[in-house]
Amino acid sequence: MIKHTHIKPSYIQAKKRSKEEVKILTDAYIINNELKKIGMGKKYLVITYGCQANERDSETISAILEDMSFTKTDDFNDADLILLNTCAIRENAHNKVFGMLGRIKHLKEIKPNIITCLCGCMAQEESVVNEIEEKFKWMDVVFGTHNIQNLPRLISDAINDNELIIEVYSKEGDVVENLPVKRSNKYKAYVNIMYGCDKFCTYCIVPYTRGKQRSRKIEDIKCEIQKLIDDGYKEVTLLGQNVNAYGKDLDEKITFDMLLKEVANMNIDRIRFVTSHPWDFTDEMINIINDYDNVMPYVHLPVQSGSDKILKLMGRRYTKESYLKLVEKIKNVIKNVSLTTDIIVGFPNETEEDFNETLDLVEKCKYDSAFTFIYSKRENTPAAKMEDNTPFEIKQKRLQRLNDLVNKYALINNEKLVNTIVPVLIEGKSQKGNNLYAGYTDTMKLVNVKCNKEDVGKIINVKITEAKTWSLNGEKVNG
Ligand code: SAH
Ligand code: SF4
Ligand code: F3S
Repeated sequence: MIKHTHIKPSYIQAKKRSKEEVKILTDAYIINNELKKIGMGKKYLVITYGCQANERDSETISAILEDMSFTKTDDFNDADLILLNTCAIRENAHNKVFGMLGRIKHLKEIKPNIITCLCGCMAQEESVVNEIEEKFKWMDVVFGTHNIQNLPRLISDAINDNELIIEVYSKEGDVVENLPVKRSNKYKAYVNIMYGCDKFCTYCIVPYTRGKQRSRKIEDIKCEIQKLIDDGYKEVTLLGQNVNAYGKDLDEKITFDMLLKEVANMNIDRIRFVTSHPWDFTDEMINIINDYDNVMPYVHLPVQSGSDKILKLMGRRYTKESYLKLVEKIKNVIKNVSLTTDIIVGFPNETEEDFNETLDLVEKCKYDSAFTFIYSKRENTPAAKMEDNTPFEIKQKRLQRLNDLVNKYALINNEKLVNTIVPVLIEGKSQKGNNLYAGYTDTMKLVNVKCNKEDVGKIINVKITEAKTWSLNGEKVNG
């Protein structure tokens, strides 16, 4: 009888930050001939929630499952293994996952041999794992964000053992290199440049679920990008919770500016990066975006709030004024830049005046689009202890007012593009049908384009014919 793994997450451990050097693990992924046969004749379904970091992790998870001979299915009822890669950023992310577990439970009743796994940021939460142990004991594997490389062993143990296997480490984390990847897009790809976050914004769970900030070595990042170039990729997005802090945890004096320049000198058509924090966004970064044709004129710069009082409570380390100055500088230097943001409404103690400061900031920044959220209390974060006396209905009304304003500027900005010619990387058929194709501009706007099948995978010139709030229409022009 196998002694099943039972390592649960710990809130106390997840908070810790030490000076201990980050280990780079190059041979942590182990797969032998036996593990390689496990999935033969079986199908897997990976369902991904959350941010690009999770999407990129799911690409690794899919590759590992295929290494184990599982084949992919999109059909829930047809799957022999279902894996939920979860997000913990807001309560509704939780609710979606628990709802899905309810559905999977029914499936498991009909197909008892189905293997069910849950991983990602929710798995890093003590309360979630306790709830799974109480209510979803029939599940097979729960693992966290630090040990994706152990998946073959965990699945093998799950098959040989009827107990729920839990293996979640609440550690600061290593950098695990040489994991396989099955990319979900043929033309654009995500490349992690760093993991974790040390900013500890008071509302945010990410520093606890993803561990401390760990930058990858510049050679490893470039090597991944070179492979993508060799495979014909046109676009890379450099990923990190706070990319402009890249390198601050490394011994060598390497900064994000240096990395960005090195990548810009590689033979790739399009480079993007998310997310940049307004706090350490340098002039050099602005100049590089402007100077290099392959660094896209698109900046996602989450502001969260326009009120200095709220920004301070959030621990964001900038003021409305310094943020506006940065935006002005960016807009002055990069003429065609598109600017997007994230905003939280209804943070504890946000008054009507505070909220009006946010509206005023949106008026001034005229964002191309924004992700807007109602504050969601995350267990064990500092903000969870702050008194919150704003009724939920008021928060909802604020969100609506904010969205109306954001949408107004999104449309105004899009309308400015009508009759101009913009470069679009055509990714495939448009969801609009009508033989249209879809892709994104250099400024990260979705365009439905009249063009040909042969244009898929290419960057073509498109004349914009119509602007909507969320997308553009256009047609291919030659030259
Ligand atoms: N690292 C990025 C953001 C990652 S999370 C940054 O610092 O900008 C993505 C967005 O989710 C955040 O920008 C924030 O707007 C939102 N968010 C994070 N925690 C939240 C919470 N507790 N409630 C509501 N929104 C939250
Ligand atoms: Fe969360 Fe702040 Fe880190 Fe972004 S920078 S991931 S909001 S703690
Ligand atoms: Fe969600 Fe984790 Fe990303 S909490 S937003 S999946 S880092």
